[in-house]
Amino acid sequence: MNISHNPLNYDIDKIRSQFPFLDVRPYGKNIIYFDNAASAQKPKIVLDRLTQFYTNEYANVHRGLHYLANAATEAYEDARLTVCKFLNAVDSEEIIFTRGATEALNMVASSFGNAYIRAGDEIILSTMEHHSNIVPWHYLRENHGAIIQWIEPDLDGRIDIVKLSKLINKKTKIIALTHMSNVLGSPVQIKEIAKMAHTHNVPILIDGSQGAVHLDVDVQALDVDFYVFTGHKLYGPTGIGVLYAKKPWLEELPPYSGGGEMINTVTRDQVTYAMPPQRFEAGTPPVAQAVGLAAAIKYLDSIGREAIRQHEKQLTQYASSKLSEMKHVKIYGNAPDKGPIISFNLNDAHAHDVATIIDHYGIAVRAGAHCAMPLMSMLGASSTCRASFGLYNTFEEIDDFVEGLAKAQSLFS
Ligand SMILES: Cc1ncc(COP(=O)(O)O)c(C=O)c1O
Repeated sequence: MNISHNPLNYDIDKIRSQFPFLDVRPYGKNIIYFDNAASAQKPKIVLDRLTQFYTNEYANVHRGLHYLANAATEAYEDARLTVCKFLNAVDSEEIIFTRGATEALNMVASSFGNAYIRAGDEIILSTMEHHSNIVPWHYLRENHGAIIQWIEPDLDGRIDIVKLSKLINKKTKIIALTHMSNVLGSPVQIKEIAKMAHTHNVPILIDGSQGAVHLDVDVQALDVDFYVFTGHKLYGPTGIGVLYAKKPWLEELPPYSGGGEMINTVTRDQVTYAMPPQRFEAGTPPVAQAVGLAAAIKYLDSIGREAIRQHEKQLTQYASSKLSEMKHVKIYGNAPDKGPIISFNLNDAHAHDVATIIDHYGIAVRAGAHCAMPLMSMLGASSTCRASFGLYNTFEEIDDFVEGLAKAQSLFS
């Protein structure tokens, strides 16, 4: 390893000391966790915040007139403000807490679909979407007779805006795209796409499950109608996601699920709904998870998102160049501005076998179709291995990973 370039004084040792999971020793080995695109590990400050919240501030929110209910409500609404600032939304009422990106995407597809999508209407998706941003739209195809139009990116995950604009017609109701491919790591130029879509009066939804982790998100500058992300990939807890929507959409859309908290009145014959965001948060919300997510966002800010991005970029470049030197490795997606996600295969070895072998060296990667079957078929692969880096990963870990792959390769040749 020979990288000494560290312009932002990234203190990797200090950062690593803040992640308790690094003490886990799989099979007696140091753990090398390269499965961050599936879920990131949690810093101690997030774990401590959860314990503190459950210990000293916990109750159900909004409903109580007692000390703990007020403390919990304050922490929950404070988390909403933190997310609002993180996305640079105009108003915290544009932030809906969900159980994950999947629920947020289903919420938009269902509410938007019920309100606006009829038989023959069209929805544009890219073929590199995660299944969470495909299947909810298939429901509209199955149940409403909607038509899905597909934009195919190139093999590096780039979307041609002119080609995309040609898919738009009077029947187009919405464009739903990822901010960053969870397989290829390629970012999508959503600002330009949103601008183009809006000239045709078509709203745009962005799945930021990967993008919110690695790219700056300013929903006002990007001018997107809906933006979704998930907490556990952002070093926060599981069970929490976010739907940002421009206020006029939230005021118009019908609720997604029904229950407590989302109503104004309920009688035998009628129900009236609360204003957003409560209208879209039926039942007891993921209170502690939202508080934990806010702690994670503050933690990332304390290190500096740009410093993290630079560190991960260097790791990605280093790993890409090392892997390209290996003659049996095929990498999928080589966009120059790709995020820290590298999908690859070792010759004809099955990705599951490769992942299982290197697991025994303490190295965690993901293998499979990555919930992106249309993309896999475009790539002509039934599965790939995916190494994805996080803020605590090191160049030495990449050296060990490459060595582990070379050993795995030797078993196949
Ligand atoms: C691009 C993308 N979208 C959506 C999701 C779904 O996120 P969650 O399972 O947290 O709802 C993922 C998770 O892998 C993802 O990578």
